[in-house]
Amino acid sequence: MPPATHWIVGPGAMGRLIALRLASQVPVALIGRRRLPARQTLVTPEGEVWTQAFAVAQIDALPADIPTVVHLTTKAHGTEAAHAALAAALPDGVPLVLWQNGFACQPRLTEQHRGPVLCASTTEGAHVQGDDRVTHAGHGQTFLGALDGRHARLASSLAQTLSAAGLPAEAVDNIHVRLWRKLAVNAAINPLVAQFAIRNGQLRDRPFRPMVERLIAEVAATLTAEGITPPGGGGLEGWRKLVWQVVEATATNRASMLQDVQAGRLTEHEAILAPLLAAASRHRLSVPCLAWHLHDLRRRAAALAEPPAAC
Ligand code: PAF
Repeated sequence: MPPATHWIVGPGAMGRLIALRLASQVPVALIGRRRLPARQTLVTPEGEVWTQAFAVAQIDALPADIPTVVHLTTKAHGTEAAHAALAAALPDGVPLVLWQNGFACQPRLTEQHRGPVLCASTTEGAHVQGDDRVTHAGHGQTFLGALDGRHARLASSLAQTLSAAGLPAEAVDNIHVRLWRKLAVNAAINPLVAQFAIRNGQLRDRPFRPMVERLIAEVAATLTAEGITPPGGGGLEGWRKLVWQVVEATATNRASMLQDVQAGRLTEHEAILAPLLAAASRHRLSVPCLAWHLHDLRRRAAALAEPPAAC
């Protein structure tokens, strides 16, 4: 049997990290809107430098071979368009792995895709350093599972492949809860650090600390109403513990939403904040701080979309 070919669609930091790591185990093709150099370099958290060559392609000129697995690693707001661009080229049954933050495209693509769909929730950290270089900033953990509770064997086999490639992964039967927990952390940290252009650790200090606490309280009330628990349980205290642990562990980071704002890119507010607002509205809960941040990030996104003013 030929070895499984993994297509990685979306060559941002996470996509390239996965491609570079997986290429030590399986054939890989890296696919994006534009063609990247076929030789890519990874700087590991231990400071080692590895270079790997693999197939690269553009999404409008896909490789002729059929992949065994497709990983979608685009930003949350680009995922459904990327899937639509691929769908016609994929025969029924090719598994899809969704690596997005938030909880927006995952349920929709689980319904639409004509094959198994797994979701991944990861704490791996990476940033790009140019078209041919990515830094694996810190080791993390990846959880894999299907929202419809199926495909446990596929999730275990993929978790083994990722783990062997240096990305420790575990198949879980509660990926829905794992995705919401990560979303909760992102909702409490990212809008504030993006608004004030600060590193995560500065949230521990005034005037930011009470702002984080207000966001955690709104997130905790919403997720409790949705039946989502923090790790180890414990209601509001459990959510506070989780968020402050992540702030501590990532104190020197510039969070992804801050990087997007500073680069003039669209942020992932629709995938992170909009599902919380929708859940709060279903449960008739008032979440003014979350609502204010969503409104503010939407206003910024609309300004990005406007053509430059004539001068
Ligand atoms: O979005 C990010 O950058 C990360 O998920 C997190 C946990 C907020 C750390 O920076």
